[in-house]
Amino acid sequence: MSEPQSIQWYPGHMASSKRKITEDLKQVDVVVELLDARVPYSSSNPLLKKLAEKKPKVVLLNKSDMADPEATRLWVNAYSDAGVIAAPVDCRSGKGLQAFFSSVRKAAGDKLTAWQEKGMSGRPVRVMVVGIPNVGKSSLINRLVNGRSRAKVQDRPGVTRQNQWYAVGQDLELLDTPGILWPKFEDPIIGEHLAFTGAVRDEILDREALAQRLLELLMRFYPESINRRYKLDLSSDEERPGYEILESIGRKRGMLVSGGEIDTERTANTVLDEFRAGLLGRITLERPGDR
Ligand code: G4P
Repeated sequence: MSEPQSIQWYPGHMASSKRKITEDLKQVDVVVELLDARVPYSSSNPLLKKLAEKKPKVVLLNKSDMADPEATRLWVNAYSDAGVIAAPVDCRSGKGLQAFFSSVRKAAGDKLTAWQEKGMSGRPVRVMVVGIPNVGKSSLINRLVNGRSRAKVQDRPGVTRQNQWYAVGQDLELLDTPGILWPKFEDPIIGEHLAFTGAVRDEILDREALAQRLLELLMRFYPESINRRYKLDLSSDEERPGYEILESIGRKRGMLVSGGEIDTERTANTVLDEFRAGLLGRITLERPGDR
């Protein structure tokens, strides 16, 4: 395969968002980490483990509508084996969101028991959503808050002024400002996977090289997704360089520049856009234990 590009992202925001998350975490009982089900590894951040060491955590595999259901099942099992409650969700349609409530209550189990023993059993569980940009944090919060009691919970001492708490149902309160984590970028593969899914702005990237890398990966693990979408009949038996696959697609789609050559730039943009729109099918680029 060709080499991944090196991607850098938002380094300036890291310190301040870390500070804000640390501050906000003091107010919450359960942390909900939102991951992209198509790239759960690349969209997670190990620093959260350190920042929220003592907090019960729930992992939601969002955008599960675009991910390979079998891979999502493997991820849920892998988290469960590691003692972490995880569930697939689709925050765009709201599918799977019931799991949010049961998972949070399960994660808060020890706290709920302790509160009960202290005669504080009516106390709502306070939840904060964290995740990397574009993973669906606002979509989740909007889904949870809309149509329910939007009543703002009274200000609490020590809460950053712009923070608001929303009652979600009877026994849960949600911090309306999600914690923004930044992705890990030491590993170029992670940056690349986030660029494939559109989590990283790709104006700064060589989109043609990116599309070629994506096609190489898809040809290896989901060859039928390319053949079906672009009406090709490429075999995955032999390793094929990305530019060849890109050219086959451009030819098939009639994307030519004057002189009859294939417009590989336009083809690359089409492939990336169609992948991100889910038109190539439900695809997961990472499996538990890959690394
Ligand atoms: P953020 O707060 O973490 O930054 O993410 P946000 O909720 O803004 O979501 C980023 C994009 O991901 C949005 O698309 C949103 O609709 C989409 N999204 C969120 N959850 C899901 C999901 O479960 N499935 C799918 N397929 N998409 C999801 P957008 O293109 O930026 O906006 P729009 O298309 O909704 O207008």
